[in-house]
Amino acid sequence: MLGLKLLTDPRWANIAESNLEEILSDHAWCEQKAASNAITIITQNPEHEELVHELTAIAIEELGHFKMVIDIIKERGYTLRRERKDDYVNQLLKFSKKDGSRNQAFIDRLLFAAMIEARSCERFRVLSQNIKDDFLKKFYYDLMVSEANHYTTFLNFARKYTIDVDVDKRWKEWLDFEGELIKSYGTKEYIHG
Ligand SMILES: [Fe+2]
Ligand SMILES: [Fe+2]
Repeated sequence: MLGLKLLTDPRWANIAESNLEEILSDHAWCEQKAASNAITIITQNPEHEELVHELTAIAIEELGHFKMVIDIIKERGYTLRRERKDDYVNQLLKFSKKDGSRNQAFIDRLLFAAMIEARSCERFRVLSQNIKDDFLKKFYYDLMVSEANHYTTFLNFARKYTIDVDVDKRWKEWLDFEGELIKSYGTKEYIHG
C-alpha cells in the first residue's frame, strides 16, 4: 500500500479502540501538526504559486479534520488531552536532509510530509477495517481517502520542483528507512504508536 514496506498488524486497532479518548486526542494533534506543516512549507517557499494554493487547501482541510476530531471528543464526553511527543515523527525528522542545497532540504520536507501522510493513511485504513464502532469506521475510511490524496500531492510536488534531487531514488530511501523504523511501533494507542 502506497509503497510502504511493512503493514500494521490489525491487532493494533484493538489496542487503539480500547482507549478511544487517547487515540482521538493523539489523532487531533496529528491533524493540527499536518496543518502547521503545510503552512510552514508555504511560508518557506512562497515563489511556487501552485504549491502555495494547493497547500493552503490542504492546511484548511487538515484543520477541518482537527475540528471533526475535537467535535467527536466533545460529543463522547472525552477531554482533549495535551499534545505528546510523537517519537515516530521525530525520527523521520532526523532522517530529513537539512545540510544540502536549499532545493534538497525543500524536496526532503515534501517527502517527509508524503511519508507521514502515507503511514497515517495506512493506520486509518487499519482502523476503518478493524474497529467495531460503526461511526468511527466510516470516519476513518473517509480520512484514509483524504490522506491518500495528500500523499499524492506532496510526492508530485517533490517531482515537479526538484532541481538536484533524484526523487524516485530518495523516496525509495525514505520507504526503506520508514520500513525499518515502523518495526518498533504498533503496540500503543497513538496514530503512529
Ligand atoms: Fe488529515
Ligand atoms: Fe493529510
